[in-house]
Amino acid sequence: MTIEAAMDISSRIETALDLAVSHAESPHGPPLLTEAIRYAVFPGGHRIRPRLSLAVAIACGDRHPEAADAAATAIELLHCASLVHDDLPCFDNASLRRGRPSVHAAFGAPLAVLAGDALIVLAFETLARGTMTCAHVLPILMTTIGRSVGSPHGIVAGQAWECEKTVALTEYQRAKTGALFIAATAAGAAASGQDPDPWRHLGERLGLAYQVADDLRDVLCDEAELGKPIGQDAALHRPNAAAQLGIVGAKRHLEDLVQSAVSSIPDCPGAPALRDLIKAQTKLFFPKQLALVAA
Ligand code: IPE
Ligand code: IPE
Ligand code: MG
Ligand code: MG
Repeated sequence: MTIEAAMDISSRIETALDLAVSHAESPHGPPLLTEAIRYAVFPGGHRIRPRLSLAVAIACGDRHPEAADAAATAIELLHCASLVHDDLPCFDNASLRRGRPSVHAAFGAPLAVLAGDALIVLAFETLARGTMTCAHVLPILMTTIGRSVGSPHGIVAGQAWECEKTVALTEYQRAKTGALFIAATAAGAAASGQDPDPWRHLGERLGLAYQVADDLRDVLCDEAELGKPIGQDAALHRPNAAAQLGIVGAKRHLEDLVQSAVSSIPDCPGAPALRDLIKAQTKLFFPKQLALVAA
């Protein structure tokens, strides 16, 4: 994929997110809630899930661009909501996110809960709005994306595992992070009228890889570099790949996951360009501090 194409994906996402958030805004609404919702979405972070979703939709022919934009937008809104709730005092109690005060630190916990709730509802409203002219793809998009955030296997379940005495690392990471990546690849294919099932493995591997990379960053990087607190997993007794496998073991696990992701890209018209994009993006998963760690 060319740099121009990648930039086009990013600008499609920012435009679609801005339009979606504007539907939650009105001069007659509660001003602080309105402000908190926009604050949670802009400026964005890596936007990796919507970029992945749109890249898959394009690789599959981009038959329904509005549906593809809506799916990517819904996924990013749900991700932003999950971060707002994750940072709350009753979860990770993190006062820094994306290099500035987290939503509850800036607006207070009640508005953070409500902004997260509003973003979740807005995600599904966005899906409905984006499929007016291709309603036949709405059920598969709703179920694919809904399943990735709810119980028993989505983000909600991932967060709920933290309330249990024990959980297997991969099961925890698949729910809290893998599920939304699975939705990203599957929904991208479905929005282009393709069977989503062959795309789930790619999403799962990339999601697990992204979380292992995040675990490595949690122990290797500093707060200024990440824009969020470090050492959180140890402090909160959360399962962490680097803690369980060691830095070298986690790095090897990350390499295996990336390799398995790249080799699982299903056949489609844009497969070669998508493979190039995923190879380039996954190189960025590896924290630069790993270069100093013995193999
Ligand atoms: C943070 O995700 C939470 C994880 C699952 C690792 P991101 O790293 O994608 O967060 P933003 O959107 O870039 O802030
Ligand atoms: C967040 O997981 C993933 C969510 C489902 C919200 P973490 O708690 O490990 O992520 P960070 O470190 O706060 O971004
Ligand atoms: Mg957390
Ligand atoms: Mg957290």
